[in-house]
Amino acid sequence: MSNLACVILAAGDGTRMKSDLPKVLHTVSGIPMLGHVLGLAESLKIKNIIVIAGHQKELVEQYVGGRAQVVEQKERRGSGHAVMQAADALKNFSGAVLVLCGDMPLLRKETVEGLIEEFQNSKAAATVLTGMAANPHGYGRIIRGSGTRVVRIVEETSASDVQKRIREINTGAYCFEKESLFDALAKVKPDPVKKELYLTDTAALISKKKKFTGFKADSPAEAMGINSRKDLATVEEIMNRRILERWMAEGVTIRDPKTTWIAADAVIGQGTEVLPSTVIEGPAKIGRNCVIGPFAHIRAGVTLDDNVGIGNFVEVVRSKVGAKALVKHLTYIGDAEIGAGVNVGAGTITANFDGTAKHKTVIEEGAQIGSGTIFVAPVRVGRKAKTGAGAVVTRGQDVGEGETVVGIPAKALKKGNAR
Ligand code: UD1
Ligand code: MG
Repeated sequence: MSNLACVILAAGDGTRMKSDLPKVLHTVSGIPMLGHVLGLAESLKIKNIIVIAGHQKELVEQYVGGRAQVVEQKERRGSGHAVMQAADALKNFSGAVLVLCGDMPLLRKETVEGLIEEFQNSKAAATVLTGMAANPHGYGRIIRGSGTRVVRIVEETSASDVQKRIREINTGAYCFEKESLFDALAKVKPDPVKKELYLTDTAALISKKKKFTGFKADSPAEAMGINSRKDLATVEEIMNRRILERWMAEGVTIRDPKTTWIAADAVIGQGTEVLPSTVIEGPAKIGRNCVIGPFAHIRAGVTLDDNVGIGNFVEVVRSKVGAKALVKHLTYIGDAEIGAGVNVGAGTITANFDGTAKHKTVIEEGAQIGSGTIFVAPVRVGRKAKTGAGAVVTRGQDVGEGETVVGIPAKALKKGNAR
C-alpha cells in the first residue's frame, strides 16, 4: 500500500519492568524491543514512521536516531491519547495509519501484511489484529459482529463475566483510515476505571457508522506484549528459537538449540556448525563451513571467514579471523586481525587494554602461535612467524616474517635454533 504511515506507541511508563531504562529499550535477542518493531515498519517500506515517546524520551530519541520521527507524549493519559499526539506530524498526510506497540517484538511482517490486506479487502475504516489466547486475562476482548466485523473492544477492567470468557483478544496492532481514526479519537471519553483515553474505544465509535473489522493472527505468541521481566524472558526464548530455526533453514547446523543463543543481528554462512552452549552476539558475520563451540562466545564486531574453527572457552570480540584459521581452546581474541590459516595455540591471550585504551594485535597469514602466548597490544606478527609456548610478545616488539620468538619478553631465536 503506497499511502501508509506508522505510529509506534512507546510512551508507557513500563512500571512493571522495575527498571531505570525505558521499557522499549530492553533488548530481545540483542536489540531493543523497539528496534524489532521499527525494523518491521521499515521492512514494509513505510517512510512516515512516528514513535510516541514519554518516559525517558531522550534515550528513546537517541536510539531511534534518524529512523523515525519521535513525538513526545508529555502526560501518559492512555493509548488513545498517545495516538492523538501524532496528529500534528500527520497533518499533511492522507491514507492509512498502521498503529503498532513498541513492546510487541514478536509481531511478524507476514502478519502485518495480512492485517493490511484485510483492511483493504474489507474496505473498512479500521481493522484490528486479533489473536486467540489460551489465557486472555489482561487483554482487551474482541466483540464480534457479522462477517469479519468487530463491534467493540472491551478492556479487562470493564468486561462482564461472559465477556471475560472470550478468548479472542486485541493484540494492540491496528490499521486505520486516517480521518476515521482522528474523528473517533476526538470523541473518546475517559475510561471510567482508569480515567485514560483508550484507543480501543475507537472500535465502538467507528463501527456505529462505518466498518471496523478484525484480522486474526495465526500464532498467539505474536500478540504477546512485554509488561514484565518474566514476559521478557518468555519472548526472548521464542525469539531465540525463531532465529535458530531461520539459520537452520539456511543450512546451518545447530547441535543443541536449548543451549545456543544467537543475536538477531548475527549472520551465519551455510554449512557452519554451531556446537552446544555457544553464544553469538551481534553484529557478527560468520562465514561458511565454520565450526563454532562448544562453549564459544562470539561478541560484537566479529567477522569470521570460511572454514574457521572457534573452540572451547574461546571469546572473540571486534576482530577479523581469516579463512581456515583455528582458535580452538581457552583463548581471548580482542581487537585483532588474524590472517588465513593461522593456528592459535591453547590459552593464548591478546592483552588489548592498557587501562585507558584498546589496542590492536595483527597476526599475519600462516603464523603459528604457541600455547599460552600473550600479545601485549599494539603488536604485529609477520607471515609464517612462530611464537614459543608461554611467550610474552611485548608492545611494539613486532615479530618479523618467518621469525620465531620465545620467552618473556619474547626474543628472536638465533638462526639454526628455530624449531
Ligand atoms: C493494551 C490494549 C489492550 C490490548 C493490549 C495488548 C488499550 C486501552 N488496551 O492494553 O486492548 O489487549 O494492549 O498488549 O489500548 N501507551 C502510551 N501512552 C500511554 C499509554 C500507553 O504510549 O499513555 C502505549 C504503551 O507504551 C504500549 C501501548 O500504548 O505500547 C499499550 O499500552 P499498555 O499500557 O501496555 O496497555 P495494555 O494494558 O497492555
Ligand atoms: Mg501492554
